[in-house]
Amino acid sequence: MVVLGIETSCDETAVALVDKHGTVLAERVLSQVAEHEPFGGVVPEIAARSHVAHLDRLISETMAEAGIDFGELDCVAATAGPGLVGGLLVGVMTAKAIAAVRALPFLAINHLEAHALLPRMLEPIAFPYLVLLISGGHCQLVIANDVDDYARLGTTIDDAVGETFDKTARLIGLGYPGGPAIERAATRGDPHRFALPRPLTGRVGADFSFSGLKTAVRHAVAALPQSRTEQDTFDMAASFQTAVGDVLCNRTSNAMAMFNDCNGTSGGDLVVSGGVAANRYLRERLAAVLADSGFRLIVPPPALCTDNAVMVAWAGIERRRGGWSADAFDTPVRARWPLDPVAAQPGAKA
Ligand code: KG4
Ligand code: ZN
Repeated sequence: MVVLGIETSCDETAVALVDKHGTVLAERVLSQVAEHEPFGGVVPEIAARSHVAHLDRLISETMAEAGIDFGELDCVAATAGPGLVGGLLVGVMTAKAIAAVRALPFLAINHLEAHALLPRMLEPIAFPYLVLLISGGHCQLVIANDVDDYARLGTTIDDAVGETFDKTARLIGLGYPGGPAIERAATRGDPHRFALPRPLTGRVGADFSFSGLKTAVRHAVAALPQSRTEQDTFDMAASFQTAVGDVLCNRTSNAMAMFNDCNGTSGGDLVVSGGVAANRYLRERLAAVLADSGFRLIVPPPALCTDNAVMVAWAGIERRRGGWSADAFDTPVRARWPLDPVAAQPGAKA
């Protein structure tokens, strides 16, 4: 069983061929970072056009490298949401076209589910397990009960954590993407220099909020003298990153208790995924929270934490193995596609 996976929900054009054992036969990830960099964030129109320009070639290259013909595929899986609609359409229409021409099943993959399931490709991880998804577009804590069965414990009520890194980096004069730039700068800074808030910390539940932290950074920057030094920037980066670490640790620790309550357990697996999981400082902070908790920390290698198509193909394999049927050709793309439709309803408890 070989699945062709296609990912175009944000600013990576990605293609992968994965077999049922989780062997990656070939893959391509084309980052558009350079195209969006002048704007300090992803521009949806530019992203969609870039996917159109490169996707067909990347598919041909991936198939050629693996030495696979379309006729040998088991199915074609594409991210159908959540994400930027223009980009999603490019990937999904391409996948449907291949599936239609070759009479193959088409699978519409939820990008969040793909992030959540990918670690099962790398090592045995049994359901249920806890997932902390931290990326540019998402920030949530969910229990993965099974394929297609998730319970959301908490989500962000404003910005995603990666988005906060990117916006803060812009505020303090560091480049885009902000996460790696802040992580680098923070290693040379004093984390105690600026007193920044830790929104929602100490409150019950596992929701996140980051807009107050970003605003506090803006005020702190405005209060600095005109002749700002490089050390000021380093100190701001370190103070900010430490505040984010405190928030993530507090909310994750609450979610671990909620996981245990739900499952009658005293531990389990915590999977951390999304681009922000590449941050070594945050990983170390989370590892410290897990010490003696009965939870095992699982963080996929950075290339599989950031957006890629291996996770999309793998989510396709999980669905095929679980007996899920193919999706209809009129399945739409979805800008919003919550993993837990019940928790996502207005007024529902997170
Ligand atoms: O998962 P991803 O590639 O794309 C989505 O947003 O879905 O994540 C990108 C995000 C960006 O906001 C980037 O600043 C952040 O992940 N990021 C990091 C680091 N590397 C990437 N944030 C903090 N520290 C890092 N080392
Ligand atoms: Zn993602």
